[in-house]
Amino acid sequence: MADHNYTAHHTAIIDTGATIGADTRVWHWVHISSNAVIGSQCSLGQNVYIGNQVSIGNNVKIQNNVSVYDNVTLEDDVFCGPSMVFTNVYNPRSTINRKDEYKSTLVKQGATLGANCTLVCGITVGRFAFVGAGAVVNSDIPDYALVVGVPARQVGWMSEFGEKLDLPLSGNGSCTCPHTNETYILENNRVSKQTA
Ligand SMILES: CC(C)(COP(=O)(O)OP(=O)(O)OC[C@H]1O[C@@H](n2cnc3c(N)ncnc32)[C@H](O)[C@@H]1OP(=O)(O)O)[C@@H](O)C(=O)NCCC(=O)NCCS
Repeated sequence: MADHNYTAHHTAIIDTGATIGADTRVWHWVHISSNAVIGSQCSLGQNVYIGNQVSIGNNVKIQNNVSVYDNVTLEDDVFCGPSMVFTNVYNPRSTINRKDEYKSTLVKQGATLGANCTLVCGITVGRFAFVGAGAVVNSDIPDYALVVGVPARQVGWMSEFGEKLDLPLSGNGSCTCPHTNETYILENNRVSKQTA
């Protein structure tokens, strides 16, 4: 009987010491480094790499071909689209060792990182923020913000369900998620979900 509660395809390489939570699924040709910490009920798609100084929460979905490098933190419920890119050196040069200059990236709870987007290191992606496919993000993203393009620019707000919210980019206002009917409030350029 296995001495762990996750499942891993036989082609996956899981270095001794890695922490992986219950019911996490590890698919073909994944490599997980020895100091990585991964929560429960995650999914790591084909050809995913997880570095040493990486912390991943619960219920995180990482699609095929994503490398999560050192100094990246993913909170619970984050979605990483296929082939999206994390970075950890801001100004790499082949002949200069910058391993002590890694910049950290934090992706907060519930955020979506669209397919093929790139996060330039040293930024924070807010709770339930949504990065469109192919965007290049080089600055912090507020909670619930929808950003697209190169460089990424905010074009709206997204609900926790993943529906566009009918709110202006700045100022004040309120609206409901077209799917769940939950109310979102825009106050002083920040969006939050109204709690009961
Ligand atoms: C952002 C997204 C959800 C679309 O949201 P939406 O509210 O339906 O946006 P719309 O299609 O109405 O587009 C609004 C504007 O943003 C632009 N836009 C939308 N997505 C864009 C993107 N990824 N990059 C650049 N521009 C984009 C549209 O062209 C449109 O521009 P316009 O107003 O000048 O015509 C979708 O385009 C996207 O990127 N989804 C991510 C898909 C993905 O990565 N899935 C991974 C799992 S398979």
